[in-house]
Amino acid sequence: MEITLFKNKKIVLGVTGSIACYKAVDLASKLTQAGALVDVVLTEAAQRFVTPLTFRSVTGRPCYTTMWDETAHVRHVGLGETADLLVIAPATANTLAKLAHGQADNLLTVTALAARCPILVAPAMDGGMYEHPATQANIALLRERGVLFAGPGEGRMASGLTGLGRMLEPAELLGHIRLLLARGGPMYGRKVVVTTGPTREPLDPVRFISNRSTGKQGLAVAQAALDAGAEVTLIHGPIHEPIPWGVMAVPVQTTQEMGEATLQAMPDTDALFMVAAVADFRPDVRSDQKIKKTDAEWGLAIGLEVTLDILSAVKEQREKCGCPRVALGFAAETHNAFEYGRDKLLRKGLNFIAVNDVMDDGVGFEGDTNRVLLLSSAGVVEEIPLQSKTAVAERLVHHVAKTLNGN
Ligand code: CTP
Repeated sequence: MEITLFKNKKIVLGVTGSIACYKAVDLASKLTQAGALVDVVLTEAAQRFVTPLTFRSVTGRPCYTTMWDETAHVRHVGLGETADLLVIAPATANTLAKLAHGQADNLLTVTALAARCPILVAPAMDGGMYEHPATQANIALLRERGVLFAGPGEGRMASGLTGLGRMLEPAELLGHIRLLLARGGPMYGRKVVVTTGPTREPLDPVRFISNRSTGKQGLAVAQAALDAGAEVTLIHGPIHEPIPWGVMAVPVQTTQEMGEATLQAMPDTDALFMVAAVADFRPDVRSDQKIKKTDAEWGLAIGLEVTLDILSAVKEQREKCGCPRVALGFAAETHNAFEYGRDKLLRKGLNFIAVNDVMDDGVGFEGDTNRVLLLSSAGVVEEIPLQSKTAVAERLVHHVAKTLNGN
């Protein structure tokens, strides 16, 4: 799947001689599918596990193996200087030792010395080798010089032993790489809170009142904020979609819990995206035991009471402490979208409101697309046409980042 942040980013992937080489092929494929231009450099030892042809086949680009190539002029400098990121995965203990000591005896280590971009290393080796004081000292030295590390993870290794030394899975490495590429984005260093999903208001231990929200739009906003460089806290109700790698996730159930978590996070927050489909009502009594069919009068006696209006509580707190600096809410409407949206924007003290007409085809709950009318107190900011929730989220983040950055 193509990812805006990866589009045309130049990533040099260095692969060294570990059995985890097979995972590097998957990583190269995932990076390419995301839109990155992946130049692979294999050490001689890596070529004993996997061939240049394998990488060429998944990246559609040349795969480099030697610095003694008469067809290229100073290839190591070219690769290292033009890259946005150098990833070494898997990195053996031997390559870590060479990198720590500035040794440059193959195309990869020479490229690492010449590189001006961030370097991310994913170690892979047996537990004993990883924990050896020599390896640990090399890692410490490299960290001191600004080299970034992802993993290793714990688990079963090729030797049959269990321990710390497994290369992280490609999907996790992709998450690390995504966070690194986002550095310097328009929200870099900003603290963002996103709420998403439904809330659940229990009637008894097995039943609850809820709604059809899947959390997809909020998850897309969280990912777009991460891609813009923000530190993201995601306060979410019960959802079944994957949570973006790199968020601080705070799972909650009820509106009250979501409200408390949100208010607690606010004093430290630059921007709030209140995407959650919060339950407006809850049962006024809750049974501690399952209500039986024979308890008909109990069922008939259940009433509903209004839950906390989280955004109104945020507004009150914001008037005292000034945070969040920018607040964006959503409005799900079935009619009069503009009028109701504008009214909510003013009532809830928001900078922006993203109005959904949920009666429209392809809009709102459950699907993967959305159409949004983005309003501020000045009027219509943008009519975001029907498109993927990911693309809608990128537009919302763009406008909030612009306001945060004062332009
Ligand atoms: N919201 C909230 N607290 C609630 C209900 C909603 O903070 N108890 C937030 C939602 O997350 C959304 C915005 O308020 O960002 C508008 O939600 P919406 O359901 O459209 O409006 P309501 O305030 O619930 O009003 P109504 O149901 O009358 O449309």
